[in-house]
Amino acid sequence: MSEECQKGGNPSAGGLDAIIVHNRLSKIKNKLVVMSGKGGVGKSTVAVNLAMGLAMEGYSVGLLDIDLHGPSVPKMLKLEDEVPVATSEQLMIPVSFGGLKVMSVGFLLRDTDEAVVWRGPVKMGVIKQFITDVEWGELDYLIVDAPPGTGDEPLTICQLLGNEAGAVIVTSPQQVAAVDVSKSLNFCCQLEMPVAGIIENMSGFACPHCGEITPIFSAGAGEQLAEKYGVELLGRIPIDPVICQDGDAGTPFVHHHAKTATGRAFAEIVQKIAGREPAV
Ligand SMILES: Nc1ncnc2c1ncn2[C@@H]1O[C@H](COP(=O)(O)OP(=O)(O)OP(=O)(O)O)[C@@H](O)[C@H]1O
Ligand SMILES: [Mg+2]
Repeated sequence: MSEECQKGGNPSAGGLDAIIVHNRLSKIKNKLVVMSGKGGVGKSTVAVNLAMGLAMEGYSVGLLDIDLHGPSVPKMLKLEDEVPVATSEQLMIPVSFGGLKVMSVGFLLRDTDEAVVWRGPVKMGVIKQFITDVEWGELDYLIVDAPPGTGDEPLTICQLLGNEAGAVIVTSPQQVAAVDVSKSLNFCCQLEMPVAGIIENMSGFACPHCGEITPIFSAGAGEQLAEKYGVELLGRIPIDPVICQDGDAGTPFVHHHAKTATGRAFAEIVQKIAGREPAV
């Protein structure tokens, strides 16, 4: 990272059962946290499609949704009615979507409209349990979908995963997004968490008829942030109405529309991530 980054060190994850956390995490080769200082830029969409894209490449993948107040992953994979079952050792078995192992607080709520009213320490405990009390087994990748901002949830997961994990930062192209997304990059810097790269989502509009990409927002936030912080721009994903339809229908876009221009944009990002990680 460049001098934009003012390091503060990763504070201790004190009080956590470090041995159990270490044992669980030692079976997971690569951990990536999808985050952004900005809400609604497509973090969950990126997390779901990144996880699915890696699974389609033959990797064993877990997808952990730590958006405790607005879990989107169960809906995006049409798993709202699923409940994780427990092993004889009282570990939760992730819900399966094809080969993908999925865990979300959404599976533990009585109904999808239920509001979670938890203070910071409770949230930290729940996220810790998603590592200690879930039977993830051996994984090539664990993809984490974080809520917007730099609050308790991203802080807790980054402290648990440690500096071997990487952050995938999602932005939209506008300057107004760049201001908020900078905060996520500084957050990573302070925790000394490596940044795997930036994804500029909603980057132009993909015509549903001819596939041509038309820029509709002011552009360039992804590239500017990548340059300023000395990190890689992993790719640009256009606005494609089908992504939205697939998210609502619970069918991961990359699985059904791999051959479209947008599908190829996702595939290139998956290749970049998989290409440089020591998995498999
Ligand atoms: N490239 C895209 N093209 C079209 N629609 C998109 C695209 N990316 C995301 N969306 C849609 O935008 C909406 C918000 O996306 P998503 O829920 O992934 O954002 P988020 O950053 O996770 O939001 P939050 O901050 O609330 O967690 C969803 O309806 C999703 O389908
Ligand atoms: Mg989300």
